[in-house]
Amino acid sequence: MEIRELKSFDATSYRELRVQALAEWPPGFGSLVGEEKEKAMEETESFLTGTTDRKLFGAFAGSMLTGTVRYSRYSGSNEGHRAYIAGLYVDPGHRRKGAGRALLEKAIDESKKDQTIRRINLTVVSDQSMAIRLYQSLGFVECGIDYEAFSARGLFFDEILMTKQIERSTGNS
Ligand SMILES: CC(C)(COP(=O)(O)OP(=O)(O)OC[C@H]1O[C@@H](n2cnc3c(N)ncnc32)[C@H](O)[C@@H]1OP(=O)(O)O)[C@@H](O)C(=O)NCCC(=O)NCCS
Repeated sequence: MEIRELKSFDATSYRELRVQALAEWPPGFGSLVGEEKEKAMEETESFLTGTTDRKLFGAFAGSMLTGTVRYSRYSGSNEGHRAYIAGLYVDPGHRRKGAGRALLEKAIDESKKDQTIRRINLTVVSDQSMAIRLYQSLGFVECGIDYEAFSARGLFFDEILMTKQIERSTGNS
């Protein structure tokens, strides 16, 4: 398994996996399959063109994209010391082989390269027990609940807020 940053040339396989993720469980990802499919490929390509504040990482089995995660730094001038992780997804046929953990570790490593990042946040739908267990094992702790954050098929889903402090040698905690 290889973990690397996604580039614009990965747009087609990224789009396929993203649509698959949305189709598997829409509330967890906050947008709809149809909307994703209708986006112009150029939009996806430019989304994958990393900026210093946003990077997407992919897990590959050979040349096949099997998992993704997005790492973003908050953009406000007074909140750039925080980053967040979103869109963690591994293709069902490739789960339980370490791809999810490796993607998250890559995102955490990215935060450590930047001395100003002190904290990584994420949100996870409360039903996603496998993801919650994975986040906890990498040091994320629950810090709040957004009740009824998503609705789908007449059901409402709570979202758990999680945070991980990135150890820094100076400053307050
Ligand atoms: C959550 C997800 C990304 C995990 O990916 P994965 O590649 O299977 O994860 P890994 O093989 O690296 O497993 C890492 C840890 O996750 C947890 N985990 C993953 N699958 C699990 C399962 N079926 N049962 C229990 N724990 C599980 C375990 O803690 C595991 O560590 P361990 O193998 O040391 O016990 C994957 O199940 C997925 O894509 N789920 C649907 C989308 C989703 O929930 N995304 C999170 C959005 S916030």
